[in-house]
Amino acid sequence: MRFDTVIRNGTVVTATDTSIADVGIVGDKISAIGAGLPVENAGRVIDAASHLVIPGGIDVHTHLDMPFGGTTSADDFETGTIAAAFGGTTTLIDFAIQYKGQTLRQAFDTWMLKAQSKAVTDYAFHCIITDLGSAQLEEMGQLVREGVTSFKLFMAYPGVFMLDDATIFKAMRQAAKHSGLICMHAENGGAIDVIVQQALAEGKRPAYAETCPQYLYLSLENMDAPGFEGAKYVFTPPLREKWHQEKLWQGLARDTLQVVSTDHCPFCFKEQKELGKDDFTKIPNGGPGIEHRLSLIYTGGVHGKRLSPNRFVEIVSTAPAKLFGLYPRKGTIAVGSDADLVIFDPNHEETISAKTHHMRVDYSMFEGIRTKGAPRTVLSRGRTVIDSGKFVGRPGSGQFLRRQTYSGV
Ligand code: URP
Ligand code: ZN
Repeated sequence: MRFDTVIRNGTVVTATDTSIADVGIVGDKISAIGAGLPVENAGRVIDAASHLVIPGGIDVHTHLDMPFGGTTSADDFETGTIAAAFGGTTTLIDFAIQYKGQTLRQAFDTWMLKAQSKAVTDYAFHCIITDLGSAQLEEMGQLVREGVTSFKLFMAYPGVFMLDDATIFKAMRQAAKHSGLICMHAENGGAIDVIVQQALAEGKRPAYAETCPQYLYLSLENMDAPGFEGAKYVFTPPLREKWHQEKLWQGLARDTLQVVSTDHCPFCFKEQKELGKDDFTKIPNGGPGIEHRLSLIYTGGVHGKRLSPNRFVEIVSTAPAKLFGLYPRKGTIAVGSDADLVIFDPNHEETISAKTHHMRVDYSMFEGIRTKGAPRTVLSRGRTVIDSGKFVGRPGSGQFLRRQTYSGV
């Protein structure tokens, strides 16, 4: 058998298994996994000895090129996916926003145009619903059939994104009818204890939950930074007291939380965050995080002895893929899966800094934090996009992913 690429001698880590093996790639798919794959005729051989080979990370919560708060998030689909690739993330699910008066299709078309010629890795969309008349209700089913299988609803941002309870209820019922998934920004949810208790008694777990690296590493103390510096940490949901961090790590370890995404919503400190210098309500809320998700979770999780390497892979790649209808094409290392692969050095140490990161934003939320464990080489559908820490990809080569409906994690 002739392979286009063979990744040799790495420690292949999936959500369930760990083994020393070679991974053979033909075209954009993984075509063999095993010891001693033939390399004589291979187009490229990558030596991964003493490295982990993990499935490409999947970030299911990003806001690229998003108009918000009187400005636009600073990374577009080119700079955002490049930064994501540097950090080992090869698939992201961004949000197509339906503005009031628009159809859901207009939202989808607008975000496809933003992404198509720019993304260097694959992408999909959730649809943010802000206005749900009968026409849009019908469109929900159409979008599900076209691979936009999840819908984001907000219980925050009155006058912008917030929906009333009746609309939320209608959207939930329609999503259920079409096997779509609702992603809820649930900051002020009403008490539904009776229903929750009933569901739990029936052995049902009606909800899945995500967290983001900022909630694991930062706390309210960051907002006390001198001068206007605290604006760097204005995002929603807001930061909490420090003791929450360990509870969240425990949630990840015990599967109370299933997914780590980033909610990457970058605004530069100069000129963008500064819009709120004289009036805090004008600070565009959001923070940059797309690049360091894997490194931060590996550092605090695996080196911090809170997570096994397999659980690390599960929360950054496999569970997001399962939850959002991308598994087993994405989210694992298996014959027939896309060759989205990260060659990850578990001992590579770095200090996060805006001076060295690749996101198009002039500060880092994680400035000065030491990480141990970093992606070195990253493949997206068999194409190398990051080669020993250097970008070698091509804008426009990322593809839109038509997702399946949700089938549990
Ligand atoms: O602060 C954030 N997260 N801004 C982006 C919009 C949202 O709430 O997801
Ligand atoms: Zn968000």
